[in-house]
Amino acid sequence: MKVLVTGGAGYIGSHVSKALALAGHEPIVYDNLEMGHKWAVQWGPLVKADLADIAVLRKSLEQVEAVIHLAGYIFVGESVKAPGKYYRNNFTNSLHLLDAMVETGVKNIVFSSTAAVYGNPREIPIPEDAPKEPINPYGESKRFIEQVMEWYSSAHGMRALSLRYFNACGADPDHEIGEMHNPETHLLPLIIYASLGLRPSIQVFGTDYNTADGTCLRDYIHVTDLARAHVSGLAYLKNVGVTTACNVGTGSGHTVRELIRAVETLGGKPVPVTEGPRRGGDAETLVARATLARDLLGWQPRHSSLDEIVSTALRWHHHAIETGLHDYRA
Ligand SMILES: NC(=O)c1ccc[n+]([C@@H]2O[C@H](COP(=O)([O-])OP(=O)(O)OC[C@H]3O[C@@H](n4cnc5c(N)ncnc54)[C@H](O)[C@@H]3O)[C@@H](O)[C@H]2O)c1
Repeated sequence: MKVLVTGGAGYIGSHVSKALALAGHEPIVYDNLEMGHKWAVQWGPLVKADLADIAVLRKSLEQVEAVIHLAGYIFVGESVKAPGKYYRNNFTNSLHLLDAMVETGVKNIVFSSTAAVYGNPREIPIPEDAPKEPINPYGESKRFIEQVMEWYSSAHGMRALSLRYFNACGADPDHEIGEMHNPETHLLPLIIYASLGLRPSIQVFGTDYNTADGTCLRDYIHVTDLARAHVSGLAYLKNVGVTTACNVGTGSGHTVRELIRAVETLGGKPVPVTEGPRRGGDAETLVARATLARDLLGWQPRHSSLDEIVSTALRWHHHAIETGLHDYRA
């Protein structure tokens, strides 16, 4: 199947492209390279264009049978300070994409949604039918698109699967690609940067949570497992095709301190830590109920042990530094 991968030059999109190619599909990456990297596009052609460029978008859609839509902005904190930026890109541009799909007759879409649609959950692990109460414009923009896709399904016969990612991390085991956001806000790369001396320390926000060691607990999913879920998602859309949403997580979690310890153990270097008070907006625990992905998509995590996540990420960052790909600025 030829698949348009929007945001395919980014962290998750490049792993999705590789997973598609390994499964015999043909990814066509659609990315404006604002945040992504040309070197990350290795498994098919790159259309360097913005989602707002409707003419190029339509032309690209004419070549494919399905879309995996990952393009968007990802910084929760920035979305609170600049909501318009997030609604324009994550909402309005996604709407352009959905309209162009209707016009060109492309029915199937797998959409990058997020655990942020749940806000502060009342139930752990979080089931898919938990209340959707996003607490920032980032999460809300994703929730909007999930809802729009439901309406487009009844109006236009669209078949949409929203994958609600929990914490994506780790890197390709062959270290061909890996995480390289700039600025970086995600915990594991920041811990690794502290261990490598690229930043002075890792800041821990809150040590008095009601978790085993007092720090926040998250559900970490290896990016290659996450990528495979998209391939399973395409098969689901082709075979079943009922529009729905599905968590992608492991069903269990790790604390901030566990992550730091794993980087110290596997990296063989101490991680300088600065402990501080809780940060507003951080939920204590976010863990997915992960059974629907198994039942609906036949998908299960295979590479999401903490050891595999941390060791692939460490290998990737060493490789990126050695080959000059690293562009991190503290
Ligand atoms: N990283 C995570 O843990 C996580 C968790 C939940 C959801 N997500 C979602 O997954 C998706 C991918 O995340 P990522 O971590 O790979 O981010 P990323 O920034 O590495 O990738 C996003 C890509 O989209 C491209 N892009 C953005 N706006 C565009 C536009 N208007 N036109 C064309 N290209 C555009 C960027 O250049 C970039 O390559 C995002 O939609 C994000 O919201 C990520």
